[in-house]
Formats: sequence, structure tokens, C-alpha cells
Amino acid sequence: MKIKVLGTAKDKKRVFVFLGIIFAFAAIFSLLGAISFPMKTVHYEIRSDKVTKPFRIVQISDLHAEDYGKDMERLTSLIDEAHPDLIALTGDIYDDKLDNTTTTTLMKYIAPRYTCVYVAGNHEFYDPAGWAANKDEAVSLGIQVLEGENVQVGEVTVCGAARAVSIGELKKPYDWDDAVIQCADSLDTEGFAVLLAHFPHKIDFYRSFGKFDLIMCGHAHGGQWRLPWTQNGLFAPDQGIFPKLSGGRFDYDDTTMIVSRGLTRTKNIIPRIFNNPELVITDIIPE
Ligand SMILES: [Fe+2]
Repeated sequence: MKIKVLGTAKDKKRVFVFLGIIFAFAAIFSLLGAISFPMKTVHYEIRSDKVTKPFRIVQISDLHAEDYGKDMERLTSLIDEAHPDLIALTGDIYDDKLDNTTTTTLMKYIAPRYTCVYVAGNHEFYDPAGWAANKDEAVSLGIQVLEGENVQVGEVTVCGAARAVSIGELKKPYDWDDAVIQCADSLDTEGFAVLLAHFPHKIDFYRSFGKFDLIMCGHAHGGQWRLPWTQNGLFAPDQGIFPKLSGGRFDYDDTTMIVSRGLTRTKNIIPRIFNNPELVITDIIPE
């Protein structure tokens, strides 16, 4: 009995080329899927006996003057749907190098409609003169820019841990500990306190005061490249490779930290991979 050998060398070559084309298409579509990164809304709930009614915070972080369509509508429509009690702007909203027209558009939209509190990030700090002008704009619109101060919004005390910057202080771009100390020292409430601070890697320092019920940060951009279904990204400033605090919710015995992956999308030199920009909604619910 003869056994027929399937395919000549030419046939095998055709099969090989065919599989190669399929593989190339699969790789291209996977890559396109990985970097298509649409913005999404992320929702967290914090339960506390320090509030008697729900309090909703919409967090906008690391916008870096990103464009979300005409009049920033793709972002503002989601904010309006959320009906927030507070909009927390946690730094790198105005960018130090980019055209900030889109940020101005967003500020003009949210300022008259919502209670807005802004703390600067490192990129505001990189351009003190530009930040001075942008801060003036934000303040003139009615946005509260906090630099080591606390404000009361309903039942929640909002602590803003960025500091006033000047060109003479440029040697210490991340050393904003004094602003955190200032917030903690002047915090004399038994009520719910939320700390807005750009840098998540300082969590141990924030916790050392034992005063903040919730801490909201940005800065890490989700670690820029992520593996699907994992909490960690590939790299974040001040945390290095495989950062532990690049995005998400982190519960400790005494507090919860929420790290926004930020809203910048196309303005980064390095693209996001499997890393959606996000609008963070946090509900503080009575226990
Ligand atoms: Fe940023």
C-alpha cells in the first residue's frame, strides 16, 4: 500500500506564506486594538460613617490639554451625566509645553456649573510663568486652586497638597511635602477628609498623618503600557518599571487611595497600550 505524501515543496511554501499573512493581519489588528484606547469611566465606592448622604467626586487628572472633541463635549457630557458634588482636578491639567486651548475650554465649562478644586502637578510646576497665568485664569473662572489649604465642600473637607511655585524653587520639583504637612496641620475636622495630591508614590507619607480618609492622585498614567486584566503597568515616573501604584484603587487599614490613569490620549510621545484614559467617579456612601 502506498502512502501519499501531502503537498509538494511548492504547496508547503504556499501554506507557509498563507499562515504568515494571517499572522501578520492578526498582529496588526491586535496592535490597533491595543492602542485604540478609548476613554472610559471608572467608578469606585467608599463607605464611611462620616457622611450622612452620598457625595460624588468626579476626578479629572493628567489631561495634558488633550482634545475631547468640539467644546470638549465627549468629556463634559460624561461629567454632566455624573452630576458631581465636586470636581477634583489632580494635576497636569494645563500642560507646560502644549497649546492649552482645550484645557481652557474645559475650565470655562465646568467652573460655573460645579464646585471645582484644582491642585497642580509636576507639569504645571515645570513652567512657573505659564502656570501663574493659567492659575489666574482658573481662579478668575471660579476654580479653587489649593496650595496646602483645605476647603469645606458639603460634608467633605478637601485638602489640596500642591504648593505655590516660583522659579527659585525649581530644584525640588517633587518636594511638596510641606504642602501636605500644611494641609494635615490645619485639618481639625472629625469629618470626612479627602487629600488631593498628584504623586501616588508618596502614599506612606500621606498615611503617616492618619488624617485623610481618601487620597486621590494621578501622575502615573496607568504605567503607559499594560497587560490586559492586570493592575500594573510597565513604567511610571518616580516608580520605575512595573509600578505598583500606576492606576486603580488601593485599600489600606486607615485610608483608600485612588490613582487615576489620567486623560491624556494622543499628546504623549509614547502611546498607551491596553491602557484606557479614564474619567474617575468616586461615591462616598454613608455606612
Ligand atoms: Fe501627567
